[in-house]
Amino acid sequence: MLNKVGTCALRTPAEEKDRTMTAPLTVSVTGAAGNIGYALLFRLASGSCFGPDQPIRLRLLEIPPAMGALEGVVMELMDSAFPLVHSIDISDDPNIAFEGCQRAFLVGSRPRTANMDRADLIKVNGPIFTGQGRALNDHAADDLRVIVVGNPCNTNALIAMHSAPDVPNERFTAMTRLDQNRAIGQICGKLDCQASDVSRMGIWGNHSNTMFPDYHHARVNGRPLTDLVSADWLAGEFLQTVATRGKAIINARGASSAASAASAAVDHMALWEAGTAADDWTSMAVPSRGEYGLPEGLIYSFPVTVTGGEYSIVAGLEHSETAMTKLRATADELVAERNAVAELLG
Ligand code: NAD
Ligand code: LMR
Repeated sequence: MLNKVGTCALRTPAEEKDRTMTAPLTVSVTGAAGNIGYALLFRLASGSCFGPDQPIRLRLLEIPPAMGALEGVVMELMDSAFPLVHSIDISDDPNIAFEGCQRAFLVGSRPRTANMDRADLIKVNGPIFTGQGRALNDHAADDLRVIVVGNPCNTNALIAMHSAPDVPNERFTAMTRLDQNRAIGQICGKLDCQASDVSRMGIWGNHSNTMFPDYHHARVNGRPLTDLVSADWLAGEFLQTVATRGKAIINARGASSAASAASAAVDHMALWEAGTAADDWTSMAVPSRGEYGLPEGLIYSFPVTVTGGEYSIVAGLEHSETAMTKLRATADELVAERNAVAELLG
């Protein structure tokens, strides 16, 4: 086992002393040599996520067989000479990779192949998140925030959260922003509008085929989406396309989405940092506490608003009985996933 940290300090001590910028943020990325990692790291390093004035310390985790590839990625990061990258540490030990971690991108895990559902990954990927949850619990900073990307991401986030009893539960989230972005992309294609025209496009439930992209509350240039396109398209092709987009990409590319997943992870963390725009929402899978009559204790995707680094689930939305049935069905699937990993939940 390689336990030492490979460190690359990108500035001399004198240069560091002269710097007047904000203190660096410690950002850990797991699966850093993988496909998403390769797209994500360069976005983080360029300032797309934490802003143009926020230096970062990168702490990258991989498994031993991928450490060589990770060294190559680090060479490329160095060769990009990003001014915001304060240092890069690599390790195959989560206890080291999460030392002082303030923002964790938990990507490292196996992707599904064409003949699988995401839930089929739970037995192989679930156990990764017990050890990583414990390591975050023991080594991360007090202001830790976590996004789980590795699938099945909602239930993996639940496992990590249960393994980190000293970290407040609300710091554990999973990624459904990709599903939101996919929904926005479909609406833009249908209405020939821009992504920035679409607001309040919330994803409910599991990052799986049962998710509910809530078109009833979405708006385009302030107008209800439901006034602009047919109910048949929304309940049919739109819903089906968004819910099954991951598989369509695997079938077309022979590999699961990577650049769009990295981009959505950047959106998720950037909005958690900077806040949502007035009158808009973002989708995040977060610990459920019985909102909308749904079960407690899941990592369930809701539309949220963010202010001052704190997210709040959008309250008071009215759902038709058909929509509520979908919200409950995706919750049922998450309950079944939770039951399947009961032995990992301590
Ligand atoms: P990949 O196979 O290209 O890379 C995964 C990397 O994780 C590999 O380098 C592997 O060595 C590493 N890894 C495996 N176990 C690890 C561990 N215990 N600790 C640290 N690193 C570990 O896969 P990818 O395309 O980058 O996808 C990663 C995960 O993200 C998959 O589970 C995939 O299904 C998921 N994903 C989720 C979303 C989403 O919207 N939530 C979108 C796309 C992909
Ligand atoms: C996606 O939605 O693209 C990812 O979750 C990968 C997958 O398995 O679908």
